[in-house]
Amino acid sequence: MKATKRSMGVTYAIRDILLPARELEKHGAEIIKLHIGDPNKYDFETPRHVREALCRAVEVNDNGYAESEGDFELRRAILEKEKQKNGVEVDLDDCVITTGVTEAIQMVTAATVDPGDEVLVPGPGYPTYTEFTRFFGGVSVPYHADEANNWQPDIDDLRKKITPRTKFMVIINPNNPTGSVYSDKVLKEMTDLAGEHDLFVISDEIYDLMTFDGVHHSPAALNKDVPMILFNGFSKVDLLPGWRLGYTVFRDPHGKLDEIKEGMMRQLRLRISANNPCQMAVIEALKGPKDHLDTMNQKLKERRDYICKRINGIPGLSTTRPQAAFYIFPKIESKHWNNDQDFVLDILNNCHVLLVPGHGFDEIYGKMHFRATFLPPVETLEKAFDSIETYMRKVG
Ligand SMILES: Cc1ncc(COP(=O)(O)O)c(C=O)c1O
Repeated sequence: MKATKRSMGVTYAIRDILLPARELEKHGAEIIKLHIGDPNKYDFETPRHVREALCRAVEVNDNGYAESEGDFELRRAILEKEKQKNGVEVDLDDCVITTGVTEAIQMVTAATVDPGDEVLVPGPGYPTYTEFTRFFGGVSVPYHADEANNWQPDIDDLRKKITPRTKFMVIINPNNPTGSVYSDKVLKEMTDLAGEHDLFVISDEIYDLMTFDGVHHSPAALNKDVPMILFNGFSKVDLLPGWRLGYTVFRDPHGKLDEIKEGMMRQLRLRISANNPCQMAVIEALKGPKDHLDTMNQKLKERRDYICKRINGIPGLSTTRPQAAFYIFPKIESKHWNNDQDFVLDILNNCHVLLVPGHGFDEIYGKMHFRATFLPPVETLEKAFDSIETYMRKVG
């Protein structure tokens, strides 16, 4: 029996690379896993008041389905955050809760992309946008982010990539995998370009409060006119990746997104609801103290500084300095490897360190790079990069 071509074409480098690592583990190897952005796997703990709120929700029997659009009080709390942080003022109907940002990416793509339609994605960028575009028959068109300019998007390249088939522009800021935070100038130019071509913008802001060298600005605060769909969630900043909750805000001053919103609403009803007790508890994450943020960002900053220094000290590797999130996207300059997949597999087999090959974030703009997370403590990073350095100095 055959599976569909569409399902057999799905790839997700971040988790696919785990399969060869599991083979080594079966034979007793201990692998240092730097492939996935899950803070709770290391010394980052969900704030106590949020954990207690989940226990309370379960105890008082908030165990039924939620509203398909999401809990009212949670959505009100989200609108308050968006107003305070980004100056975004919308109605309750413009905000919905999804099972992680991932489900929102899937639903908005399903509501907008017909076969042959094009979607502008950052290259390199988070691969889920490309995968769902392909899944629904569309074509993702990467725009160049310039490594020499700390991975800021190249506006001239972006302009050249717009065609009559372009449906929307994806902005991921702070960016995964580069850790880049876009300047206000770049954000304004990108959104103005979208406006000129009557495109809407998806702004993925899931790392918004995890910055080390300055603060994040939403494009929604810089351009009040262009229709935007803001994606955000609780996986990163609130240390709740396993709860699988995200939200979408339609910032649409001229009602251009009405039909797309309806296309998403229909899918939300079809899948019934997101996790209800977790929705009750994340109200606490939004309204309660955010003391963990300072400690978390301080730890990440120290680890960022350490990993940058180590990578730039290894012959054959070089890196820019991430300004946010918890990923680094170094360049493989050594001529010993022909492609990033071979490099990552070689490092896995010889150093027992798991990285993600760069082409998984864009086949062109990601090649000869890799992504590593700097979530682990310095001692773990030290062990990983001691091993990589020794090996690379040996093979040249
Ligand atoms: C830029 C970006 N968007 C979305 C997601 C998915 O987030 P969620 O856990 O909310 O599905 C991730 C996860 O790593 C991400 O890096």
